[in-house]
Amino acid sequence: MTLRLLEACSRRAVDATPIWLMRQAGRYLPEYRAIREKLSFIEMCKRPEVALEVTLQPLARFDLDAAIVFADILLPLEGMGIGFHFTDGDGPVIDHTVRSAADLEGVHAIDPEVELPYVLETLRLARRAIEGSTALIGFAGAPFTLASYVVEGGHSRTYAEIKTLMYRDPGTYSRLMELLTEVVGAYLLAQIRAGAQVVQLFDSWVGCLSPYDYERFVLPYSQRVIAAVSGRGAPVIHFANGAAGMLPLVRQAGGDVVGVDWRVDLDRAWTELGDDIGIQGNLDPVSLLGPPDEMAARARDVLARAAGRAGHVFNLGHGLLPGTPPDTVKRLVDAVHDWRGGE
Ligand code: CP3
Repeated sequence: MTLRLLEACSRRAVDATPIWLMRQAGRYLPEYRAIREKLSFIEMCKRPEVALEVTLQPLARFDLDAAIVFADILLPLEGMGIGFHFTDGDGPVIDHTVRSAADLEGVHAIDPEVELPYVLETLRLARRAIEGSTALIGFAGAPFTLASYVVEGGHSRTYAEIKTLMYRDPGTYSRLMELLTEVVGAYLLAQIRAGAQVVQLFDSWVGCLSPYDYERFVLPYSQRVIAAVSGRGAPVIHFANGAAGMLPLVRQAGGDVVGVDWRVDLDRAWTELGDDIGIQGNLDPVSLLGPPDEMAARARDVLARAAGRAGHVFNLGHGLLPGTPPDTVKRLVDAVHDWRGGE
């Protein structure tokens, strides 16, 4: 049986547009919250049998074309001597921020097979569970998005710390990026060996950069990660959030599919990227919080702009939000599969 997601990533014709949703496993599902009441998020990630159950939860409700392994982009930082924890309300907090050459002492690359065996085991279990029916996605944070956490210390509104590090101490910035590039490449390759059929690189925060800085301080590293994992049998999706103003540069990073957010019309994004690459996106996740008919109209607009061209993977422009009604998710997934054009 051919899997629609894999076909679309290779820009082959499909019987219906494939759909999966970033953060499809998470707090909007009561069955997720039931497990989360008993375990911390990190414990859930570190117990493969629990992470497997959570990975599969959305598939039991919705006719999705992919499962994404339940994990987090920050997990590799733990073994690198950086460390992090989650706080209620403020999201992730980095234990050892890096803002100078001295801060980099003690920060080191890791072997993902040694430091992240639980993610690889979850992938092996998930692949066995869904083999032949649903595609399995592995993922990692892109070097810049990880570096933004490491340097800012957590979420940021201005990204002033990481940007000023680039400008005032490019040597330290590039050493940190080199380390992250090496780790992310090795981690994605290990995920492919463990059974990931597609890998997504999340560059969630590149939208804070000018094209000038993206080209000099991000593109070379993303390019190296993507080159290292390309041609290994798993298509690469490069999600560049907020990058509508620099899509030709994002394209230069490589990959089979570029993920775009909702701030750009999908047809215009595709024109800028060129039609020899796939596109993923790009419904605003907030549209699922409003009236379902309004959501459906916006989903049809995305589909009409893709116009049935090979290489479209339907997704949101960013992750599902915690208050999303599961019934609205079901309506979206079914509407995408039922769409036949012209509506
Ligand atoms: O998509 C999926 O269903 C797979 C699992 C997944 C999670 N995080 C689970 C998670 C994936 C792919 C991620 C990626 C991730 N993590 C990103 C990139 C995607 C994006 O949103 O841009 C980023 C930036 C992170 C870092 C991170 N992890 C943050 C900022 C937070 C807190 C956010 C919040 O809503 O509180 C997390 C925690 C996290 N990761 C949760 C989940 C389900 C919530 C944990 C909980 O139950 O409290």
